[in-house]
Amino acid sequence: MNVAIIGTGYVGTVTGTCFAELGHNVVCVDVDAAKVDQINAGIPPIHEPGLPALLKTHVGKRLRATDDYNDAILNSEVTFICVGTPSGDDGRIDLSIVRSASTSIGKALAERSADASHTYHVVVVKSTVVPGTTDEVVAPLIRANGGDAGVVGIAMNPEFLREGKAVHDFMNPDKIVIGGDARAVDTVARLYEKIPCEITRTDTRTAEMIKYANNSFLATKISFANEIGNICKKLGIDVYEVMSAIGKDFRISEQFLNAGAGFGGSCFPKDVKALIGRAGELGYDPLLLNAVIMINEEQPMRMIELLTNRIRDVRNRRIAVLGLSFKNDTDDIRESRSIPVIRELLNRGATVAAYDPLAAENMREVFPDILYCDSAKSALEDADACLIMTEWAEFGSLDQEFDAMREIVVIDGRRMVSLDRGVYEGICW
Ligand code: UDX
Repeated sequence: MNVAIIGTGYVGTVTGTCFAELGHNVVCVDVDAAKVDQINAGIPPIHEPGLPALLKTHVGKRLRATDDYNDAILNSEVTFICVGTPSGDDGRIDLSIVRSASTSIGKALAERSADASHTYHVVVVKSTVVPGTTDEVVAPLIRANGGDAGVVGIAMNPEFLREGKAVHDFMNPDKIVIGGDARAVDTVARLYEKIPCEITRTDTRTAEMIKYANNSFLATKISFANEIGNICKKLGIDVYEVMSAIGKDFRISEQFLNAGAGFGGSCFPKDVKALIGRAGELGYDPLLLNAVIMINEEQPMRMIELLTNRIRDVRNRRIAVLGLSFKNDTDDIRESRSIPVIRELLNRGATVAAYDPLAAENMREVFPDILYCDSAKSALEDADACLIMTEWAEFGSLDQEFDAMREIVVIDGRRMVSLDRGVYEGICW
């Protein structure tokens, strides 16, 4: 099938490249000409394992990029909206990019020639949007701008891609959810034909809610593990032993019960807040979801509390921060738990020596003046304390490197290290 992908961020680039791998002809659209050139040169605009090789295989053959909506949409049967849905100042979803993409798609569809104007075309929302958006915002804008209701189908197909594992997750999903009327859903389902996975067919609002409920539940599991972990810490109990045991209950599962410094990333914090915002608009105060966010915002401050229990005054002390990305295997720092920690350290006058295998350049935009080191070893040299903020595998093999510290004080926010000397403390254990 011929597919247009609007937006070459995380979701758009992975989705487009994987559809090409599944045998479809894909045109990616972005208003940013630099990104378009990059993709056409076979270079992914994002860091994602497996993506460079796939893009290289398909670019110039089954995949290309353009900044011209008409070029992409008029040559496609299905158009995916994969643009960003950032949080507004109040945490509620900002739909301005979705709106402008919908308007542009409507205008492009209005340009279809008399011959093509009766050909069925489906517009699919893949961006994460609050329930009601596809039917109440996207569809009306497409129609108002010329996408004829009779031959334009509308669908919603949420993504469940983890950063760092997005290509794997796309090709090996545990569910594919498609919302819309039967004809639109059938058309979108054909794109996934080669993937052996059951398709959940539903309406657009339910598909939208499934995405929010999915992410909110995972975020809840993490905040739950952190809350139990905070209590365990006071009782001298190892929360990892507790979670490992309760995870054996098939109704609970052991996934996403790793207590630590909290969740970050482009999805969990934003999606939970967007659902809270939408619930508020409907006159409902979501107590549990609010608590999930509150616990998550407290966890980084617990790292500071544990540190200052050991070093009362961090002014002019060198604090090594290991890990800047919001999780391992990505250079993404969005909502990283290391951001509030570094901010607080700086407020208290500490000298921060940071190391991350991939994310230093991105963090430099947030904190231009901290010290960026090219290895964990050099960050630890002469440090008065160390905070481990990200679950990078390489931190698991650190040992003698800690001996270069002025004093061994290690506060672990991700259960990466076990040390038999100096001071070692886990955030929740
Ligand atoms: C998430 C969802 O998993 C994915 O399905 C969705 O569509 C996009 O959002 P992602 O943001 O890439 O994916 O990261 P994920 O692996 O889910 O981790 C999110 C955060 O939770 C990270 O900061 C991670 O460190 C933290 N986390 C995860 C924990 O603190 N404990 C855990 O047990 C698991």
